[in-house]
Amino acid sequence: MSSSEVLVTGGRGVLGSEVVDRLRAAGCEVRVLSRSGQLGTVRGDLATGAGHYEAVRGVDIIVHCASNPFRKTRQTEVGGTERLIRAAARAGVSHLVYVSIVGVDRNPHYRYYRAKLETERVVERSELPWTILRATQFHDFLLKVLRTLEIGPIMTVPKGFLFQPVDISEVAGRLTELALSEPAGRVPDLGGPEILNSAELARAYLEATRQRKRILELSVPGKLGRAFREGAQTCPDGMRGRVTWEEFLRSRIDPATGQISSAYDRTKVAERRHHERHAR
Ligand SMILES: NC(=O)c1ccc[n+]([C@@H]2O[C@H](COP(=O)([O-])OP(=O)(O)OC[C@H]3O[C@@H](n4cnc5c(N)ncnc54)[C@H](OP(=O)(O)O)[C@@H]3O)[C@@H](O)[C@H]2O)c1
Repeated sequence: MSSSEVLVTGGRGVLGSEVVDRLRAAGCEVRVLSRSGQLGTVRGDLATGAGHYEAVRGVDIIVHCASNPFRKTRQTEVGGTERLIRAAARAGVSHLVYVSIVGVDRNPHYRYYRAKLETERVVERSELPWTILRATQFHDFLLKVLRTLEIGPIMTVPKGFLFQPVDISEVAGRLTELALSEPAGRVPDLGGPEILNSAELARAYLEATRQRKRILELSVPGKLGRAFREGAQTCPDGMRGRVTWEEFLRSRIDPATGQISSAYDRTKVAERRHHERHAR
């Protein structure tokens, strides 16, 4: 399989770029679909179907990581996947790997999760052989969210929301393994090694960034809040990664200054990979 031609949608994103690196390291020819038209990518837009046929021509496997929770969500996720599958089927693609989110069926009260669930159905019904992996929230994503919850000396978090953060290196590793294996349908969910509530995540974050802020827990009413509190987004019985939230924070935050590395830091990613290898 090492000479496979693979298309990674969203291959410039947080997860997708890791997948691209890993597939290349495994000897695959990798193509990236991106709206940017950046050098080395095939310009395309899932929301419109532009560039799909060029992107899939000659491709054996697609790892579908592109997604947009904020703009044209359904059009990109559901419509985009339908259009991608149509183009891929015509081009003779032999395997589509789709990454979804743990618990999208248990928490349909969030528009983005409904779109992910609907997209899973599109993939399942498709004529292409497929694999679907659901993962829990990525460390990087939760770090980004926490940073937006700081208001002056206070950090406001939703009370009791449960998360099982997972490291993108582990999700990317699993997706690469799945892409280079036979289509497997639905595979076990992948989550991180520990389940933490929002206040625990915030506390570790504040400690790592050397900040003395008060954590204010706010109750979120309604079904969406209840689902998060009941652990809809966790998978205690699924596969478990090894990198903990604290280890991740240590890899991204300078212990002397509490500064977070601004960009997605490749050196730290390499360190995490090293950690992963030695933890095995
Ligand atoms: N974040 C999490 O915690 C988490 C947890 C579980 C599963 N997932 C799933 O993992 C996948 C990747 O997540 P991520 O956090 O790595 O996302 P990300 O960093 O936001 O990257 C998403 C990519 O999607 C591409 N994209 C967006 N709209 C597009 C469009 N209309 N046409 C073509 N490409 C488009 C963007 O590429 P360009 O800008 O280059 O066009 C972007 O690089 C998603 O399917 C997500 O649902 C995420």
